[in-house]
Amino acid sequence: MATLEVRIEEPVTFVIFGATGDLTRRKLMPALYTLFKEGALTKEFSIVGFARREHDDRSFCKLMNEALREHSRTSLDDESLKSFCSHLSYHRGDLSESSAYEKLKEKFDDDALPANRLFYLSITSDLIEPVVEQLRKAGLITPPQDMPWTRVVVEKPFGHDLESARKLNRLLLRHMDETQIYRIDHYLGKETVQNILSFRFANTIFEPVFNRTYVDHIQITAAETIGMESGRGAFYDRTGALRDMVANHLFQLLCLVAMEPPSGMEAHSIRNEKMKVLRALRPATATEEKKTACFGQYGGNEKYKAFRDEDRVAPDSTTETFAALRMEINNWRWAGVPVYLRTGKRLAKKTTEIVIRFKTPPLALFQHVACKGDVCDLTGVNPNTLIFRIQPDEGIFLQISAKRPSMQMVVESVNMDFSYSGKWKKELPEAYERLLMDAMRGDSTLFTRSDEAEAEWAVIEMILAAASGTGPVPYAPGSWGPEEADELMLNDEKWINE
Ligand code: BG6
Repeated sequence: MATLEVRIEEPVTFVIFGATGDLTRRKLMPALYTLFKEGALTKEFSIVGFARREHDDRSFCKLMNEALREHSRTSLDDESLKSFCSHLSYHRGDLSESSAYEKLKEKFDDDALPANRLFYLSITSDLIEPVVEQLRKAGLITPPQDMPWTRVVVEKPFGHDLESARKLNRLLLRHMDETQIYRIDHYLGKETVQNILSFRFANTIFEPVFNRTYVDHIQITAAETIGMESGRGAFYDRTGALRDMVANHLFQLLCLVAMEPPSGMEAHSIRNEKMKVLRALRPATATEEKKTACFGQYGGNEKYKAFRDEDRVAPDSTTETFAALRMEINNWRWAGVPVYLRTGKRLAKKTTEIVIRFKTPPLALFQHVACKGDVCDLTGVNPNTLIFRIQPDEGIFLQISAKRPSMQMVVESVNMDFSYSGKWKKELPEAYERLLMDAMRGDSTLFTRSDEAEAEWAVIEMILAAASGTGPVPYAPGSWGPEEADELMLNDEKWINE
């Protein structure tokens, strides 16, 4: 019998830069609290919140308790909260001042904080450079492979374009080794995203058909209903859908779906295979009739503000809140298979899913029908469709054709369903729980390597070049984006809106 529970055995100090910010409140603290409550952390762990605001240990603890009450998925009780708080402390300081880092160093010594340290940079990208430089100057970054260890977690975006991504990598690599850098893309921490690899490589029957011979096209959709809540307008207006979602989350999903089997499950084997996909990925060639990219921006209605009227968004903003793309993976396995990517804010539904549409059988032997009760309409052939439902209703669905019970030989499309909630009653872990745990354990498999980050930006630059002059077209809030997105599709393909 083996237990599947994982614990951090080593003492760790978790220092959060930007400790009073939104991410700390919504994601980091709730994840740390859940790990704590589940007994996944050692007794010797310490969380230090580093920020500029006026707080002491007590008021910081109070602030974090409020955040937990609002965002924790794990039940709260006074005793656990008190005990969790005994691991928290606050370090007030200006991120650009060396004295703040010297004092942090003293804190490690004076308060006998665990010497293994994980610095979580929950800060805007312009602050990464000063913070990392100050950490190095204060002697807070230990050499790679040394004990005690130092690791630094960096939040996306990893740059704004290829040049800034390279600059960021150079800066980080000047002060530490790649093995100490954990670039977080929270999609990789989602349980269902990790399941893409198990689905493909732990089963014999699917992998042989994941290629150009059998697959007609691939669709990946990450649709959101939210707009600019939580004061995100300023950040988003500078960023847009392509940089915010496609350059990382969507490309990473695609890598997992399209990569070759890795030689093992270690970080470098998986990342090497993802890299090969990114190197082969490019926007499809546009034709007179078929573009390769469609950008949109949401308008308003009586319920929702238009993007341009959102707080801290320029009234004449041309930032895209929706992006749809037709891409190709130019390698042996996938050449000629269109890959459609789509993401946007204020869409009809919050859903992330990957659709693999297979080719139709070579000979149409049967009549295909779609029925309501006993009333059936003839349809065209329904090709097999495999859907990875990343969120919500996490699961995998395979649409197949089955003979409809009747005296006639007609077939109807039916679903083979696997749903997480149907099989396992336990709530799925939050992505941040998994990723923080992995960073503390030194497992970088689910983090983005420097070359991946650069390769992602190289593809974004190709897209921008291919789509130059394509401004965003308006779409209605609550829709599936602009109708122009349909025009990217080849043949009779359609976006599948599940
Ligand atoms: C973040 C983006 O990385 O992912 C946000 O910056 C987006 O704009 C979020 O809302 C979506 O994450 P999830 O897990 O809710 O799909």
